[in-house]
Amino acid sequence: MQSSAPGAENPEQHWQARYDAGSTRWDRGEPSPSLERWLALTDLAPGAHVLVPGCGYGHEVPELAERGFRVTGLDVAPTPVEHLQAELEHRGLQAHAAAVQVDMLDWMPEAPADAIYEQTSLCALPPAQWEAYADRLRRWLRPGGELFACFMQTGRDGGPPYHCALPDMQALFPEEHWIWRDDAGATEHFNGKHEILRRLIRR
Ligand SMILES: C[S@@+](CC[C@H](N)C(=O)[O-])C[C@H]1O[C@@H](n2cnc3c(N)ncnc32)[C@H](O)[C@@H]1O
Repeated sequence: MQSSAPGAENPEQHWQARYDAGSTRWDRGEPSPSLERWLALTDLAPGAHVLVPGCGYGHEVPELAERGFRVTGLDVAPTPVEHLQAELEHRGLQAHAAAVQVDMLDWMPEAPADAIYEQTSLCALPPAQWEAYADRLRRWLRPGGELFACFMQTGRDGGPPYHCALPDMQALFPEEHWIWRDDAGATEHFNGKHEILRRLIRR
């Protein structure tokens, strides 16, 4: 493990400090346009269970719940989880969605999920943790389940956010375990960055 990488040793402390400082420029204050790209592609039925790891304030979580999905948002920092729990309560969605404060590298769902909406969570992890995270994503899903990934493109070294080069992603999510189904284009991010969007199916 890269012990010097930000957040590697104590992710809760590292990320909570960012929320305490208001250093959350990634947050759009509303669902990302990437979500609509995924919903236009997926054939998941209402009632399907969707995981949203590293959800932050998780604007996509109530949006998915209102469209009939069962949703679990995960984040290691308490502040965004508490915020999201309050939002779900405010919108009367607690029966359909939950926000859970966990280190996603230590967490497993009670039953395999149908889908994962992965929005700039991988890029928040030190690359030394990527293999463990990718393995977990695969284990969270049922066979045939889908991963919608928003791979951050920074074009620079270091992070977070770390650059998720497509060849590196193809190695991390190999054909042996994943069918690379759809190229869903790209979404602009702040500071000239962008996310490339791909839909993968777990074998
Ligand atoms: C770049 S932010 C993205 C937040 C959200 N997905 C969005 O697009 O607005 C990364 C998020 O991952 C969370 N995170 C980082 N490491 C984590 C871990 N090991 N387990 C769970 N969440 C983690 C951080 O607290 C932060 O909210």
